[in-house]
Order: sequence, then C-alpha cells, then structure tokens
Amino acid sequence: MKTLAVLTSGGDSPGMNACIRAVVRTALFHKMEIWGIMRGYEGLMESEFVKLDAKSVANIIHRGGTVLKTARSKRFMEEAGQKVAAKNLEAKGIEGLITIGGDGTFRGAVALGGQTNVKIIGCPGTIDNDLVGTDFTIGYDTAINTVVDAVDKIRDTAESHERLFFVEVMGRDAGLIALRSGIGAGAEAILIPETPTHIDDLISRLESGRKDKASKIVIVSEHDDAGGAFAIAEKVKEKLPYYDTRVTVLGHIQRGGNPSCMDRVNASRMGFAAVEALMAGRGGEMVGIIDKEVCFTPFEQAIKHLEELDPSLMRMVEILSL
Ligand code: F6P
Repeated sequence: MKTLAVLTSGGDSPGMNACIRAVVRTALFHKMEIWGIMRGYEGLMESEFVKLDAKSVANIIHRGGTVLKTARSKRFMEEAGQKVAAKNLEAKGIEGLITIGGDGTFRGAVALGGQTNVKIIGCPGTIDNDLVGTDFTIGYDTAINTVVDAVDKIRDTAESHERLFFVEVMGRDAGLIALRSGIGAGAEAILIPETPTHIDDLISRLESGRKDKASKIVIVSEHDDAGGAFAIAEKVKEKLPYYDTRVTVLGHIQRGGNPSCMDRVNASRMGFAAVEALMAGRGGEMVGIIDKEVCFTPFEQAIKHLEELDPSLMRMVEILSL
C-alpha cells in the first residue's frame, strides 16, 4: 500500500486527535502518503482532501475535538452519496481508509465498502462506549471523568442545601456513561435505558435510603425509558414534595476537553494498529483493545447494541448506594 486516508465522523470525542496523529506518523514511517479528509463522509463527497505530514499532527495529542472536523451526513446515507465518495477515493489513488468514529461511522464504512475495493479499518471514537469489540472507545474515559468532576461540584452545593439532584448525562441509547460515572461519583441511583426504570421503586429507594444523608444524586442517562431528568424529577417531586429538587443537564461539556492519558494511549495504539492492519491486507473491521490486547471485530458485529450491562456492576450499585 502506498496511499492512505483518514477521516473522523459522527460526534467528536476527546482522543480523536491522538488517533489521527498515530495514523499519520505510522503511515509516514512506512513511507506511505497520507491524506486527511475534512468533515468526515460529507467532506469525502466534496473531495476535501488535505495532505498530512509529521508536522501537521504536531502538538495535537493533548487537544480535544478533531483537527479534521466532523459531521453527521444525511447525503451519505443515500447510495448516490456513497457512490460519489467511492469515486473520489479512487480518483485520489487511495488504497486504504481509516475511519474514526462510532456506530454511524461504521455503518457508513460498510456502505462505502459495498461501492469500492478500497480497504477500510475503523477506530472506535465515541464518548458513548457503545461498540462491541473493545473495552473502551476513544473519548469514553475522558467523558466519564468530566461527568465525575461535574457531579463532585454539584455534590458540594447539593450537600450544603440538602437537595435532591437529577443529573442527566449523554450516551444516546446506551447507559455506559451513566453507569461508570454514577459509580465513580457515588450516586444514590443510576437510571439507564438497558434496565427498566420504575418510578415507584426509585421513590421508595429515595425514601428508604439513609435519613442522615443530606444530599442525594440521581444520574439519569439521556434516553432512559422513564424519560429525561426533567420528566423524572417532576414525577418524583409529586410523590416526595418535601425534597428540594434540582435538575442539571450536563450536555456537550461531556464531549470536550483534553483527553485523559488513557484515551491518548488507547487512541495511539489503535491508530498505529489500524495502519499496520491495512498493510497486512485487513479490511472491513474495527480495531479494539480487549484485556490490554489489540483485536479486530467486523464492522457488522462492532455496531451491535449491548442489551445488558455488566450485571455484577449493576448489583454493586444497588449495594453501595444505600
Ligand atoms: O454519540 C455521541 C453523542 O454525544 C451522544 O451521547 C449524544 O446523544 C449525541 O452524540 C449528541 O449529538 P449531537 O452533538 O449531534 O447533538
């Protein structure tokens, strides 16, 4: 292989830049030409290629976001858009493509793979951690640390005012951000889409919990089946009017910031492995790290949604949050 390209697509995540840097420097080490594609598949359909060299990825390992920009492209969902993208890749002489993103990005990679012989390897970049085939996606560790940091701050004021807080976190339809950050922040309850939320159970839990606890924090995953944090807080307030209740939606703060060391290291390993995988003739797969080892999972498998989160963690949450 002589010519590679790299793009980031979907929601950005801290560590994407570290991954781009690893891809570029590994490709250059192997004497390959490496092109960046701006704004993901959207930019690919517009032939927005930029030549990358060692200097273009200097001093980006520590920066959040993505220097290649990103987009969620409606046009690329259509076959016509995929054909244009494939044609542009081939016209540029690209033999291997590295896509950094989440499930939408890999669905796109499968569709693109149907239109071209260019080999595609994916690196999991999403704060949601909702991909099969890796213990941690790039950005997840930073995001959960951002949540824990924010909840620690909320806890200070919650404790002073003896309030009940509902804190809504991202994750789309996966509760992994809520689960880990909730454990880390010592939340009194964690509501996630993977397990049905019964408001009456939550209410009796809040009632029967330790009376000497001045503050209580409930972490709500944004797509919980009982609704968002505002809706749930309303329902609880009706039954527990004596609680002074507040709601905080953390929002996009979870997507920004300098990546944690763990995200930088994982992103570097995955970017490095992605280039060497293409050189070895692999394609149609996502790089991941499971039990500290680099591994590969076919895109179709990687995007399968996890139906159940680690039951041992769920049990621990019940016991520790009393
Ligand atoms: O997939 C990452 C994510 O941050 C989700 O957690 C969230 O639901 C979604 O993206 C938000 O998307 P947007 O930035 O397009 O509003």
